[in-house]
Amino acid sequence: MTDQAKDRVYIFDTTLRDGEQSPGATMTHDEKLEIAELLDEMGVDIIEAGFPIASEGDFRAVSEIAERSKNSVICGLARAQINDIDRCWEAVKHANRPRIHTFIGTSPLHRAIPNLTMDEMADRIHETVTHARNLCDNVQWSPMDATRTEHDYLCRVVEIAIKAGATTINIPDTVGYTAPRESADLIKMLLERVPGADDIIFATHCHNDLGMATANSLAAVEAGARQIECTINGLGERAGNTALEEVVMALKVRGDIMPYETHIDTKKIMHISRRVATVSGFPVQFNKAIVGKNAFAHESGIHQDGMLKNKETFEIMRPEDVGLAGTSLPLGKHSGRAALRAKLKDLGVDVGDNQLKDIFVRFKDLADRKKEVFDEDILALVTAAMTDGADHLEIVSLKVVCGTGGPAEATLEMEVGGEEKSCVMEGDGPVDATFKAVRALYPNSARLQLYQVNAVTEGTDAQATVSVRLEEDGKIATGQSADTDTVYASAKAYVNALNRLHVRRSKTGTDQKEISYKDVG
Ligand code: KIV
Ligand code: ZN
Repeated sequence: MTDQAKDRVYIFDTTLRDGEQSPGATMTHDEKLEIAELLDEMGVDIIEAGFPIASEGDFRAVSEIAERSKNSVICGLARAQINDIDRCWEAVKHANRPRIHTFIGTSPLHRAIPNLTMDEMADRIHETVTHARNLCDNVQWSPMDATRTEHDYLCRVVEIAIKAGATTINIPDTVGYTAPRESADLIKMLLERVPGADDIIFATHCHNDLGMATANSLAAVEAGARQIECTINGLGERAGNTALEEVVMALKVRGDIMPYETHIDTKKIMHISRRVATVSGFPVQFNKAIVGKNAFAHESGIHQDGMLKNKETFEIMRPEDVGLAGTSLPLGKHSGRAALRAKLKDLGVDVGDNQLKDIFVRFKDLADRKKEVFDEDILALVTAAMTDGADHLEIVSLKVVCGTGGPAEATLEMEVGGEEKSCVMEGDGPVDATFKAVRALYPNSARLQLYQVNAVTEGTDAQATVSVRLEEDGKIATGQSADTDTVYASAKAYVNALNRLHVRRSKTGTDQKEISYKDVG
């Protein structure tokens, strides 16, 4: 089948809304702008940029993403309430191509939340979709928990939304309950039974609670859905959403049996996956399809032998197709600034002159300690350069003594708001002693929710990347850092997270979500 004969499937990315809603995945304003720009550049058709009424921070982010958008449609989420929809429109109206996405839970369990009868809810849907359509000619409507909604009622409300002017109807599997055949049957049923269904686009929005989100989304497409809602790395509440990289690559690799095309530049997948992992603080599992560290690694002897003879023996797609450099040579301590700049360009990292200077200093320091500096090391340096900065807390020096036969001892010098302080603390191991020292110099009530260490490359001189997630009064902040010294990387990640909490504390109310999309009333 030629490309011309393939049906177009639209990719709707909700990393910045459903993904960011995941506890702990909160992104800063600048990070949201950066991810939106990468999504736009990679060819995402619709970016759900946030939930404007949820907080001042969400509103600002959606507005600015809308203003900066190039090709993608920019969408905001709104509950089935007039003021939500107005607020959403205020934020997205700056986009070249704005969309309002409004929704209400239609299953028996969800209808009970606002305590509406079936008829009352039908009226509310008519009123709110009509209102949205009077503001914007691109309106998406979702019956939340559609997969657990009675079929007759689902057909009735979908018909009402279409008549009121919805141009896309999204069918969410909110709790990740459906299975592929049922997902397909539901779309087929709606297409057959609902008058006007042929004139609009059906979307599929799956959660991964039973590990079937990708399969359910593709089954819905085979039944007639033409928009897939997904997130980078499958980020999202609980087990997450459908992973963008999985559905896009499945359609690309198995175009022979699924004749659908997307407009995603798949070579940009790895870079955005790494950036989302970094800014959300949710690392990608090693064996994750498409973007996991091991997804293209062939370690067993029999696999390596086969790969050397013919790559197709064990490889169904090329690493280059998802933006993994094929045969990349490591840099070393003699590599200069031009080589580093070229390498960054290869890796899809665009930095200004000042940032390059900073990354180059870090690179030289690392190359002195590590014989070969691999792509992963460079990316870890970029992350560190982006997260360190002129912050409230800065580590001046750290010395840790540990071993058998006694507690570890950390001697820490740190600048706190420009004032240099120092202390010596003991702890149960080097990281515990170090974190206690940080707390002694900067007393705080933040609770450690996650402490995670990964080796970036192989070998005992590998850099460790450390992620730390903290929670304080309902605010969550993550910090990352990388260094060949795991304890130092841990200290920097901890301090990064504290710096982020400090920033949030000083602008209380702007980032904090005041309502959740589940508060439908
Ligand atoms: O999962 C869900 O139902 C949602 C809706 C708001 C579309 O995310
Ligand atoms: Zn969802």
